[in-house]
Amino acid sequence: MFQHVEAYPGDPILSLNEAFGKDPRPNKINLSIGIYFDDAGKIPMLPSVRAAELKVVAEAGARPYLPMEGAVNFRTAVQHLLFGAEHAAVKAGRIVTLQTVGSSGGLKVGGDFIHRYFPGSVMLVSDPTWDNHRAVFEGSGITVKTYPYYDAATGGLRFDAMLEALKAAEKKSVVLLHACCHNPTGVDLTQAQWQALVPVLKERELIAFLDLAYQGYGDGIEEDAYAVRLLADEGLSFFVANSFSKSMSLYGERCGALSVVCPDAAQAVNVLGQMKATIRRNYSNPPLHGGQLVARVLTDPELRPMWEAEVVAMRDRIQLMRRQLHDVLSAKLPGRDFSYFLTQRGMFSYTGLTAEQCDRLKDEFGVYLVRSGRMCVAGLNTGNVEATAKAIAAVLS
Ligand code: LMR
Repeated sequence: MFQHVEAYPGDPILSLNEAFGKDPRPNKINLSIGIYFDDAGKIPMLPSVRAAELKVVAEAGARPYLPMEGAVNFRTAVQHLLFGAEHAAVKAGRIVTLQTVGSSGGLKVGGDFIHRYFPGSVMLVSDPTWDNHRAVFEGSGITVKTYPYYDAATGGLRFDAMLEALKAAEKKSVVLLHACCHNPTGVDLTQAQWQALVPVLKERELIAFLDLAYQGYGDGIEEDAYAVRLLADEGLSFFVANSFSKSMSLYGERCGALSVVCPDAAQAVNVLGQMKATIRRNYSNPPLHGGQLVARVLTDPELRPMWEAEVVAMRDRIQLMRRQLHDVLSAKLPGRDFSYFLTQRGMFSYTGLTAEQCDRLKDEFGVYLVRSGRMCVAGLNTGNVEATAKAIAAVLS
């Protein structure tokens, strides 16, 4: 019956994380999956989220289905977080925000919508991008191509080449952009570069699709929404998928959203309607619990500042780990430049390590990095940073 079903080779990130879980070595180090671990190596339960959960559970009653588009308190709170409550596009009712199953759900729903309403559009993703982007959008039936992004020679951005490629893109192409903390490289556009991108998006009538999975891990919650607000200020119509997995440490709750900025409120009504239909076709409606925690944290006057301070602490700890890894590695291998650990931002750094070197790190030292050379620096802590540096120095020598 199923002879024709081929073996699954596994997912480069999730399968590696599963392999880590099965590794019996006590000193193994997980720098594979994009999860923030605290200095004790644990996934934190943020006190703000815990307090929100106690309140939500205390008030919980029946568990009806949510509407297809999700809970209205979640959707409003997320829209205000992304765009600012006073933004003209918010006030004009031009933005549709839907609660989705993680931001992956937002990408998938957005992908299905684009395939249906912009059937000729190709999707352009950065080279490289998150391993799952291509799979999600190809799964929606979209043709996916790349634009230049990462500069292996400098560990920075090939901005001129990126801009040239987008200037040459077919009109109405969809351009997937990481709003902050690029996954996998940690290399972001500066504010000036975002500004330089806007006229190209306009001239080529490109449809921006922003992925904002790490809000708060770059420069700050507000600062990391810069690109979202700039594009809205510039009157562009675009998509943005965002996530609370990392910023609220709510990975398994699958709390995300998809927002679509439309030219006017009348078009927003129809986009909302067709998005509801898209969600119905995919998973009917989103789950209740996690979204209510997010809505509570975002709107509760005591919990909101608590959460903002917790995000600062997570961001600062990652910065500290970047600095320590940089310093230890620079001391061990003085001829080499590890400054990219300091300039790249967010959870990830692109180390330049080859797949074979990553295999050696895993097999010989129990240090897990994605085979592309992506390191989740948020998995480093004061207890493992020295061992990580030692292992990297060994495979580089
Ligand atoms: C990652 O990039 O490691 C995370 O976003 C988790 C995932 O689903 O891939």
